[in-house]
Amino acid sequence: MRKKVTVVGAGNVGATTAQRLFERGYMDVVLVDVVEDMPQGKALDIAESGPVLGVDASIIGSNGYEQTANSDLVVITAGIARKPGMSRDDLLFTNMKIVGSVTQEVVKYSPNATLIVVSNPLDAMVQHSWSVSGFPKNRVLGMAGVLDTARFRTFLAQELNVSVKDVQAYVLGGHGDQMVPLTHYTTIGGVPIADLLSTEALERIIKRTQGGGGEIVALLKTGSAFYAPSAAVAEMVDAILLDQKRQLPCAALLEGEYGLTGVYMGVPVILGAGGVEKVVELELTADEKALLSTSSEAVQELVDVMANAPKV
Ligand code: NAI
Ligand code: 2OP
Repeated sequence: MRKKVTVVGAGNVGATTAQRLFERGYMDVVLVDVVEDMPQGKALDIAESGPVLGVDASIIGSNGYEQTANSDLVVITAGIARKPGMSRDDLLFTNMKIVGSVTQEVVKYSPNATLIVVSNPLDAMVQHSWSVSGFPKNRVLGMAGVLDTARFRTFLAQELNVSVKDVQAYVLGGHGDQMVPLTHYTTIGGVPIADLLSTEALERIIKRTQGGGGEIVALLKTGSAFYAPSAAVAEMVDAILLDQKRQLPCAALLEGEYGLTGVYMGVPVILGAGGVEKVVELELTADEKALLSTSSEAVQELVDVMANAPKV
């Protein structure tokens, strides 16, 4: 029997994610949105690509949750996206309401699902979804680190004219301007990046990575990135549904790891059938620890603001 995945939010990220997942062929997909007929139309369009691609999986669209029942995994992309001049934090209250109500519906119909939250501001939204869901922490995680790391790897590969496949790197921390690229874990085919790039070039690339989301917003003008984000989500879905035990940077609830407690933060985790099966603790430099702590304070600020707002 094929796995079942629901994608909530059939906008840019949701629809592209649904397409990528459908094309894998090993899961059936339900695409949900509040806009009447739109998820049905996009799902039908994607389904009609099946014969061309040789994919027999099913994909349907819906404005409700009945058809999502017993999903193995649910991706939450519902919400508003950034426009030029907006930070991810500007989305807080609107998306908090949306993510809260979506989570309630999702858990009612799929009590055993793993939730991957994508909506921004990411770390606060995944924390909110976890708290509304009542799920164990291993089954609620957020996508950001895979995307931020992919941007870092893209820029490094372009700078050094090497294959992206040979660039290993980690970007940790919150999905904001204080994200933390770990330069001493960054290698090209095992060769430390410091041996290959000047400090100035590396700093330029780190800055570009930290502003990577904003760079796309400024170019698109009407929304934010979705091709790379959907690819990142699909990689995480594969890791979980195929029990791949991948080590990927994801937003996970920390309980003492990296000296942080009770806050969602981007850290390397082992992703498998159990969701977040383990938080991997890397040795950090004093500078990186300080950056991670600053990043967690920014997330905590949003969580505190949410604590004083209506829960759903
Ligand atoms: P979009 O505007 O294209 O799509 C959002 C969709 O959510 C819309 O179709 C809207 O109708 C739907 N929606 C709104 N309320 C809903 C509800 N209650 N139930 C179901 N659907 C609902 O936005 P896009 O580009 O797809 O981005 C989605 C979210 O993901 C944004 O918050 C964006 O900031 C975030 N994002 C996060 C990334 C990350 O790295 N974590 C990367 C890219 C986007
Ligand atoms: C991004 O980083 C907007 O969070 C989204 O592209």
